[in-house]
Amino acid sequence: MATFVPANERRALSPHLPLGDRREARFYGKDILSVSQFDRDDLEYIFGVAKEMRAMVERVGTFDLLKGKILANLFYEPSTRTSSSFTSAMERLGGSVIPINEVRYSSVAKGESLPDTVRTLECYADVIVLRHPEVGASAEAARYARKPIINAGDGIGEHPTQALLDLFTIVEELGRVDGLTVTMLGDLKYGRTVHSLARLLSLYDVQLNYVSPDILRMPIELVEELKSRGVPQAEYAGLEGALGETDVLYVTRVQKERFDDLGDYERLKGAYVITPETLSAAKEQMVVMHPLPRVGEISMDVDQDPRAAYFRQMEYGLYVRMALLAMVLGKA
Ligand code: CP
Repeated sequence: MATFVPANERRALSPHLPLGDRREARFYGKDILSVSQFDRDDLEYIFGVAKEMRAMVERVGTFDLLKGKILANLFYEPSTRTSSSFTSAMERLGGSVIPINEVRYSSVAKGESLPDTVRTLECYADVIVLRHPEVGASAEAARYARKPIINAGDGIGEHPTQALLDLFTIVEELGRVDGLTVTMLGDLKYGRTVHSLARLLSLYDVQLNYVSPDILRMPIELVEELKSRGVPQAEYAGLEGALGETDVLYVTRVQKERFDDLGDYERLKGAYVITPETLSAAKEQMVVMHPLPRVGEISMDVDQDPRAAYFRQMEYGLYVRMALLAMVLGKA
């Protein structure tokens, strides 16, 4: 059995591993903070491991790949999917979880800092999944932690594991990414999932369309970043102009918790609602995705349409997160 080596020491050891181990070595002991750390080969590797995870879950349900390993799930913001899918992922791999889903019941409520909180949890766990309301919080935590930090959403910044599962969903549902037109709809200003997904899609030959109210447009810095990489992008105020050419319709919720003026939220929350009538003008092979939770922007009448992929998308997330845990703990 391999001796456990802390993350900071493993970083130094990785270049000396045999060539055949390099792809795994790129992740072993590493933090997952941003989609910017991945290239296309990484994504192919992650999705290959995720498919193996799915096959194992379907065959045996739970197995002992990470037996003896412990995950600390540290959530400063509410979560259903990310928190519970990481818990399920760790338990299906035979490991166990320290759940801190309400930091108000932890010593954070007494004023403990983020660096001290992660330095505490790494005494008890092998990997820490962190959701935090501030942009850059996971990167800050990673500066102090010896164990791998996985960013589960940092304010309006990034949500890299969501983007990975989103891309895996596209690959599984449509069989390819190159050549697709992806239309992102809703709150593109505050939606961290679209920020991460747009960056990840920039590794492929895609057309990106953005449909949002004027004050919730995709941040100009991100649009410029993708433009400099040659990604064709177009902005629309209404879905009609983009829907007919769309292969992936990625719908997002207007993020109430990010608004300073709740009057703006009330005015914008119903700006777009996807109904069966909307889909009547869409391609037969299109998929509708949503990171969820939804709060009215996709009518429940759409759920039975085969193009509605958002519930399957959640399940894909389990396999991707199992793959990521196995990889950062050196067992993929
Ligand atoms: N998609 C997503 O991050 O969902 P939760 O907020 O429920 O984790």
